[in-house]
Amino acid sequence: MVPTDVNFAGNVFGGHILAEIDRVAYIAATRHSQASCVTASFDRVDFLSPVHVGDVVDFDAEITYVGTSSMEIWVRVRAESMHGGDPRPVGEAFVTLVAIDASGRPTPVPPLLLETVEERLRFEEGRRRMEERRRTRHRQPA
Ligand SMILES: CC(C)(COP(=O)(O)OP(=O)(O)OC[C@H]1O[C@@H](n2cnc3c(N)ncnc32)[C@H](O)[C@@H]1OP(=O)(O)O)[C@@H](O)C(=O)NCCC(=O)NCCS
Repeated sequence: MVPTDVNFAGNVFGGHILAEIDRVAYIAATRHSQASCVTASFDRVDFLSPVHVGDVVDFDAEITYVGTSSMEIWVRVRAESMHGGDPRPVGEAFVTLVAIDASGRPTPVPPLLLETVEERLRFEEGRRRMEERRRTRHRQPA
């Protein structure tokens, strides 16, 4: 993180971290779908600790759930001093990206290969979150 990334408190601007989360999720979704993707939604993000200028920030992404055209990506953010020390948790987010075709319409993506019990459990949890998003999401007024 460099000085242009800071907020008025002198720490890294939260929106900068959100943009990076979005980019990392985009890479994961594009690799999986081999299609163009757009961000459909971000779930709640809690920032657990500040990120300082000079920190090295690490982003891990995993696809947790795949629907027909949508993909839920879990992103974990950790920061550590450039001079060493243990990484500390900064936050995590679930981001939903949708694969689109050349005309911008949702297009199907390959299924997720689930090899472990943990992956199957995460997939089920993702399916439940996706149902909740569907139930509560904003609709354009008629
Ligand atoms: C995301 C988008 C492609 C969905 O198009 P749509 O015509 O509403 O599509 P549908 O209702 O048929 O939904 C398609 C899929 O997207 C999912 N989806 C749509 N809106 C969603 C939302 N807000 N959150 C999570 N998933 C969403 C649906 O659940 C569905 O998933 P499935 O195919 O796995 O079952 C469209 O809303 C869009 O282009 N939004 C703008 C995206 C964008 O520009 N992002 C960057 C903002 S700067």
